[in-house]
Amino acid sequence: MKTILVTGGAGFIGANFIHYLFTKTEDIFIVNLDKLTYAGNPENLKDIEDNDNYKFIKGDICNQELIEYLFSEYDFDYLVNFAAESHVDRSIHNPNIFIETNVMGTATLLNVAKRFWIKDFSINRFLQVSTDEVYGTLPEDNKEIKFTENTPLQPHSPYSASKTSADCIVKSYYDTFGFPTLITRCSNNYGPYQFPEKLIPLIIHNALNDKPLPIYGDGKQVRDWLFVEDHCDAIWTVLNKGKIGEVYNIGGNNEIKNIEIVKQILDYLKKTHSLITYVKDRLGHDRRYAIDASKIKNELAWTPQYKFEDKITETIEWYLSNNNWVENVVSGEYLKWIKQNY
Ligand code: NAD
Ligand code: TYD
Repeated sequence: MKTILVTGGAGFIGANFIHYLFTKTEDIFIVNLDKLTYAGNPENLKDIEDNDNYKFIKGDICNQELIEYLFSEYDFDYLVNFAAESHVDRSIHNPNIFIETNVMGTATLLNVAKRFWIKDFSINRFLQVSTDEVYGTLPEDNKEIKFTENTPLQPHSPYSASKTSADCIVKSYYDTFGFPTLITRCSNNYGPYQFPEKLIPLIIHNALNDKPLPIYGDGKQVRDWLFVEDHCDAIWTVLNKGKIGEVYNIGGNNEIKNIEIVKQILDYLKKTHSLITYVKDRLGHDRRYAIDASKIKNELAWTPQYKFEDKITETIEWYLSNNNWVENVVSGEYLKWIKQNY
């Protein structure tokens, strides 16, 4: 039985990861530590809240005393750190909270884990969930060039700069102390439970409500899209089989221009393209992300299982069937409920 501390498990990827783990194995105990910011929602885990092998704790990864308490209460084998401020646009308006949570919070987790695990690092693993955005941007005219794990780190947004700082600190704990770290860097995720401020759920929500669809700049920026379940599977693979101290890129093999995705969603929903509204470009907007995932393929035998054409329609259908969830998230109803109940 492995005991795992999952941070940020009430958010989009964290909640999918916890669901994924309970379908994968029963030989696991999960403590989910989440601050329940605007992006964290216990509703995402309603179906497992009574599971005996699951414990939810509302709290902040920057709170050292709380982390120490959790480590003294539970004998964690692994820690997977999803907790973060994750939206680039918000980081442009308010960078400080990104530095606090993404940098200081990660450092707090590292310090406490190091102290509690020091007797025998070989049995523990600290997995930092990072992003391809740490590498900066790629030229759009040369499709051969992709991010490898050796691409220099050149972040542009306060979000990606904070994630880069965290990656550097995590790596330094391996280099300096031999602390058992793993870092994964994935591309843009899509799937159920994503907060409707990110491109795909925002477009679905606005289109359903016949609201304008804001397209930054010319809309020809390229992202690689990874179905969230593939990402969860890759994290589990790295956690179990990854080599300590290493970085692994995770990609979906789906490079698509933003505007093409938006048109696909409109066509699926049978909505007019006239909803597309070009707006001022995002400051410091990265032009293209693309992942070379040959390391995880060659060393850990992992490749994505799902096709974008299949999973994008399944994702749209999920948002259609979970309109209550979307409306409660967008209107802030859940936040009010969380304030009263947690
Ligand atoms: P999200 O914003 O949906 O969820 C983040 C979760 O962290 C929320 O539940 C929130 O309440 C929690 N949280 C925030 N601050 C906290 C704090 N101080 N203490 C404890 N909990 C806190 O984000 P996501 O999309 O699920 O991303 C998860 C991780 O994956 C992040 O580290 C992000 O950088 C990384 N990532 C995401 C993507 C993507 O496409 N979504 C791509 C690459 C990497
Ligand atoms: P986003 O989902 O915010 O992810 P990230 O910035 O981490 O890649 O944005 C994906 C792409 O879509 C990015 O190029 C910005 C663009 N975008 C828009 O054009 N309009 C929008 O309203 C949003 C949220 C994003």
